[in-house]
Amino acid sequence: MSSTKKKLLVANWKANVLKHDAQEWVQHFSQQKRREHHEYVVCPPQPLVGVLAASSHPHFTLGAQDASTLEMGAYTGESPASILASLGVRYVILGHSERRKYFKESSIEVAQKAELVLAAELTPIICLDSNQFEEQTELLNATLREKSIFAYEPVHAISTFGGQEDPLSTTLEAIAQLREYVGNESRILYGGSVDLENSLTYLQEDAIDGLLVGKSSLNPEIFAKL
Ligand code: PGA
Repeated sequence: MSSTKKKLLVANWKANVLKHDAQEWVQHFSQQKRREHHEYVVCPPQPLVGVLAASSHPHFTLGAQDASTLEMGAYTGESPASILASLGVRYVILGHSERRKYFKESSIEVAQKAELVLAAELTPIICLDSNQFEEQTELLNATLREKSIFAYEPVHAISTFGGQEDPLSTTLEAIAQLREYVGNESRILYGGSVDLENSLTYLQEDAIDGLLVGKSSLNPEIFAKL
């Protein structure tokens, strides 16, 4: 990817935010000095997607943290991609390691979700650790490999699991490996314990197209400064 392309900064709030917090965050984020060469994406908890959609948010694009393996229909409790799209969602995180661990989500399900997300004209952000590169990408057709965004997230680096940020050299090696599976078109992000101290280390690399940020995205001042 060329260095002139905007870097994608994706906030993954996980299930940490109440309606009131989300509204305050949006208001504070709009008052921050943000980086011009970043595109910001906010993925709130699923029940709050509609709240953010209804609020004015000119400074970020709306995302979601998951989508269903099923299309619209009689599936109580599900969040089909086309309903998310109708709310103005543009990006959907899929296969996050917390979903793989706590909800036993498989790479097959992630691939099914990714197909429906793309069919709804949204962009999947597929999370994977290096031991899933081959297994996950071989389940994706060529269009999905090209049009999806991939987030390399080593499990040990995620703040809730271990919180040891990946050394840059390891990240670059892993991303080069992942490129061999997904080709040159798709964007590849890094995620895991990104904070104000280390964000630029990753962002200054041409090979890293952006960051997926958990904990540091909960504070709008910090997220705007990454
Ligand atoms: P973290 O989370 O930034 O809190 O490590 C990243 C993620 O889980 O996507």
